[in-house]
Amino acid sequence: MKKRVFSGIQPTGNIHIGNYLGAIRHWVAAQGEFENIFSIVDLHAITIPQNPKILKTKIREVSALLFAAGIDPKQSAVFVQSNVTAHTEMAWILNCFIPMGWMSGMTQFKEKSEKQKKEVSVGLFDYPALMAADILLYKTDFVPVGHDQKQHVELTRDVAQRFNSIYGDTFKFPEPIINEIGARIMGLDNPIKKMSKSEALPIHAINLLDSADDIRSKIMKATTDSDTEIVFDKNRKGIYNLLVIYEQFTSFKRADIETRFEGKGYADFKKELADVIIEGLRHLQSRYLELIIDPSYVDSLLKDGASRVRPIAEKTLNEVKTKIGIG
Ligand code: AMP
Ligand code: TRP
Repeated sequence: MKKRVFSGIQPTGNIHIGNYLGAIRHWVAAQGEFENIFSIVDLHAITIPQNPKILKTKIREVSALLFAAGIDPKQSAVFVQSNVTAHTEMAWILNCFIPMGWMSGMTQFKEKSEKQKKEVSVGLFDYPALMAADILLYKTDFVPVGHDQKQHVELTRDVAQRFNSIYGDTFKFPEPIINEIGARIMGLDNPIKKMSKSEALPIHAINLLDSADDIRSKIMKATTDSDTEIVFDKNRKGIYNLLVIYEQFTSFKRADIETRFEGKGYADFKKELADVIIEGLRHLQSRYLELIIDPSYVDSLLKDGASRVRPIAEKTLNEVKTKIGIG
């Protein structure tokens, strides 16, 4: 029996190379080894106000990007979260087993609520309960995510443990899989901030669908320092981040990269980095264009994904309802 992997991605903003290097690429690479379920988490997206038309388009765009990046619909079920209603039901139930104090400690909530100028919704506070539901419904073994989601997976384990200790063995304890290198790609404008979909400044992130010209111009403008040496030094955050991106796209060894750029300037390095990214995204971009001209095909893959996972989710939900004496 293959171990099961579950992960999710929000259909908001522009998917960037941080999402790709920290998450999507690992999902693709490990597909053969596991039974995979990937969700486009639209219910998580609405924890922050969204424009309905844009949201609908983004759901398709992100799905097509996953398939374009190499997610194979035969090996992996990809579905839209709101199409499997067990997620919301399970989230409600888990809510009743999560102490307020656990939620208050969530770093991502603190960050997101500070950023939001308008009212912060209860949904945003409760985001981790829905994420726990996503994971626990499928008796997931592994959750491959970027570093920022580790705390949410830990909360998922805690609530599973709490539930199991009251009602007996029900949920499996999921383990996060975090590939440390690439798990935290930083913003190009500000290398002390994680590259994020919601930053307004265009040079902040390289998006997967950026044109070659945009990629070049963003990389050339990326923040570095007044030093000259091109070496992997964690304290020199700008150049370090760019070198990690180079390393991730080429899979070259660090020592070889440093030798390659010995005596060269930042501009030379940046030119080559831009080429490497453009080349690294070329296949994905052309596959995306092929897929997106036929939205009904993408929709049919999503529908099929939902029908494959729904029975698994409903089975767990029913088991839980019976145990707690509802339904
Ligand atoms: P999100 O953008 O929040 O939908 O995240 C989708 C996936 O990408 C999650 O697994 C995140 O942990 C991962 N991710 C998001 N931003 C970054 C980043 N800057 N570096 C690495 N991984 C990231
Ligand atoms: N919260 C995750 C993010 O923003 C997305 C997500 C939702 C997820 N449900 C999940 C990731 C379940 C892993 C498992 O990146």
